[in-house]
Amino acid sequence: MGWWSETVLPRVMARTTENRVVDRERRQVCAGLTGRLVEVGFGSGSNLSFLPPEVTGVWAVEPSDTAWRLSDGARSRAGIPVVRAGLTGEHLDLADGSMDSALSTLTLCTIPDLPRALAELRRVLKPSGALHYLEHGVAPDAGTVRWQRRIEPFQKRFVGGCHLTRDIPILLREAGFTLEATSAAYLPLASVSRPWSYVYRGRAVR
Ligand SMILES: C[S@@+](CC[C@H](N)C(=O)[O-])C[C@H]1O[C@@H](n2cnc3c(N)ncnc32)[C@H](O)[C@@H]1O
Repeated sequence: MGWWSETVLPRVMARTTENRVVDRERRQVCAGLTGRLVEVGFGSGSNLSFLPPEVTGVWAVEPSDTAWRLSDGARSRAGIPVVRAGLTGEHLDLADGSMDSALSTLTLCTIPDLPRALAELRRVLKPSGALHYLEHGVAPDAGTVRWQRRIEPFQKRFVGGCHLTRDIPILLREAGFTLEATSAAYLPLASVSRPWSYVYRGRAVR
């Protein structure tokens, strides 16, 4: 990881993705999580305060040491064990079928080899387990998609490899998941933010 991605970006992300609008989404996507939870792209631990009491422990996967340090306070307040279980979603050092649930928020856009990471998540989930996801992705209207395609090369370069046009539901289905309780909508933000604010939320059952 370069200096920008390792040191600056985690702080920028923590500032820009912790707000009333996104927190409401976080609360909804975390509802129903249970037991042993693997979270990919753990970041600065922004989801910890929204986890239901049925979650008994978190196995956090996060490449950035800065983000991990930024999560110190949230981890110490969590009241459940939170361990750093790995550095990349593409290689989970967890046993097959060992996790009850999985969580990814604003991360599937960034993981370089997403099919591999999704296959890893399916591998470590129990047969009844589900991945709860909250992800921005390709917009439904051609005008916004044109802007997403224009901006995407810069976004990937300066925002840690983040893609704007990933079709999250299709990618999840291609990985073998069955989607439930899905929603897709623009966040209630200024229209200039539309290339970034079309958000897919749901449960992807193993
Ligand atoms: C936009 S941030 C989202 C952080 C957090 N999930 C949230 O909702 O605030 C994306 C996170 O994915 C992490 N990440 C990047 N590449 C990854 C990979 N290959 N596997 C797992 N996480 C990755 C980044 O370090 C960053 O913390």
